[in-house]
Parts: sequence; structure tokens; C-alpha cells
Amino acid sequence: MALLIIGGSASRLLTEKVARELGICASKIEVRRFPDGEKYLRVLDNVNGEDVAVIQSTYHKPDEYLFEYFLLAEALRDLGARKVTAVIPYFAYARQDERFNSGEAISFGTVAKLIENVGTNEIYTIDAHLHRVPDISKMFKIPAYNLSAIPLIANYVQKNFALNKPLVIGPDEEAEQWAKAAAERLKVDYDVLEKKRLGPEKVEIKPRRLDVKDRDVLIVDDIISTGGTIVETIKVVKREGACKIIAACVHPVLVEDALAKIYEAGADAVIGTDTVPSQVSHVSVAPIIAEALKREKRR
Ligand code: R5P
Repeated sequence: MALLIIGGSASRLLTEKVARELGICASKIEVRRFPDGEKYLRVLDNVNGEDVAVIQSTYHKPDEYLFEYFLLAEALRDLGARKVTAVIPYFAYARQDERFNSGEAISFGTVAKLIENVGTNEIYTIDAHLHRVPDISKMFKIPAYNLSAIPLIANYVQKNFALNKPLVIGPDEEAEQWAKAAAERLKVDYDVLEKKRLGPEKVEIKPRRLDVKDRDVLIVDDIISTGGTIVETIKVVKREGACKIIAACVHPVLVEDALAKIYEAGADAVIGTDTVPSQVSHVSVAPIIAEALKREKRR
């Protein structure tokens, strides 16, 4: 039995790259809108009896892309697909994993239930924002796997930058897992700062003595959204005498002028992956998705 892959509107290019890694052609769908704004979706290839992986990231327009996934996954099951695998490279809503203020929706849980309820058999994501949830499988009743793009990012940095006495910095304790993984791959040290979030766009990074004087710094986080976290981190490492500053993340969500703000703050380079297509998506996650799907097929 062959594995079919289908890209949703959010991840068409990434799907083509995964298809090339797997040596197959991606299957086709038609997506458009009715004049009243409702979405129309049609599966154009025969999926009866097949295992199908749907690649659909959920950046910038998370509700729209998630809804498209729901239509597509359920259509695939109705059309006789044997198994539907969701590949959601950037998993939106993962940060709202508990009720921080009374009355709030726990969005992560709701999204997880909806993904299951449309007939998804298993789910893959990449460096999901798991802080309070220790393991993504705790959020789902179906098998759920969290892949990591950090080794690919570290390889890219190693290949493209000659760093002098580099130190990897995580902006907060949540980022320690990514800073540590990058540092291990680069065989250098890492340190983690302390962050206090003052609002959706405002953060405070606690000033600290850091061993960065005359050294190059690689800042690593999972997401760059407004850029607030990276900008504040850059201020701290510059104050402490860092030389070259590279800001890297897995998911370059980069809302509004985030990228400009980061360069204005003093970054020499900004690097992200294509879980979110952007100007800084220099690293493709296609090889790790293809590897995971190959492993899945062998199971
Ligand atoms: C949150 O804790 C994440 O790990 C990132 O640090 C955060 O999402 C970045 O957001 P922003 O770029 O808006 O500061």
C-alpha cells in the first residue's frame, strides 16, 4: 500500500518538498470559496483504501487552516482512506494549554479534540510549544508525536556562520530544551535567561551577568511572533558585550514588523524553518517529516 500525501493551503510548498524527499507526487485537492465566504474543498485523487498524510501548518490564519484540515480529514475518511495522518508543523493554540484567568477557553484541548473527532488516526507536529504539558501525547487520545527541527537549525548555523567562542542563549526557562539541544549539536555551552510576560506584545527579560563578552551568541527559541522576546534578549546580551548575534527559531511567525524590530535591535542574522513560510525560512523541515512518514509506513 502506497502512502499518499496532500498539502493544505498553508503548506503547499513544504508538501512538494516532502513529496520529493519521499520520491512521490503529492495528491491534489481543490480549495476555493463560495461567494458568501464559505469554504469549498474537493479531493481530486482516489484515496480509497490508502494511507494519507495531510500536511497543514496553522500560522497567521490558524482558524481558517484548522477548519480546512477538518473538512479535508473528514472527506478523506468518507472517501475510504484507511488511515489519516495529520502533519501540523506549526501547531497553533498550543500556548493556551490552561485557564490562566477565570473563564478562559483552554484552546489547545479544544483543537486537539476537534482534530481527533474528524477521524484523524495520528498526528505529528514539530517543536510544539509544550511547557506545562510534558508530552504532546497527553493532549490526544490518538498517537501524537513531536518532532524537532533544532538539529537542522544547528547544522545550518554551523555550515553558514564562523562563530567565535559561541554561546547559545534561551530567552526563558521554556526555551531551555531548545537551547540545550542546539548547544549539544554545536558542542558549545548554553545559558537561559528569565522572562516575565507583561502582555501579548510586551516582555521583560531580567538583566543578568552573562559570560558573553567578546563572544558570538546564538539565541534559540521555538517561536518568534511579535519579536518582543528576541528584542529584549538581544538588549541583554549586547549590554553584556556580545559580538555577533544570531537569532534562530523553529517557527518564524513574525507578525507585522517583528523582523525589522529584531534587526534594529542588533541581530546580525535571523533564521527560521519553513513550518511558517517567511523571508527567514532558510531551513526546511521536509527531511524530518519525510523520515517520520517513512518510519510510520514501516510500522
Ligand atoms: C513563549 O514562551 C515562546 O516560547 C516564545 O518565546 C514566544 O512565543 C515569542 O513571542 P514573541 O515573539 O511575541 O515575544
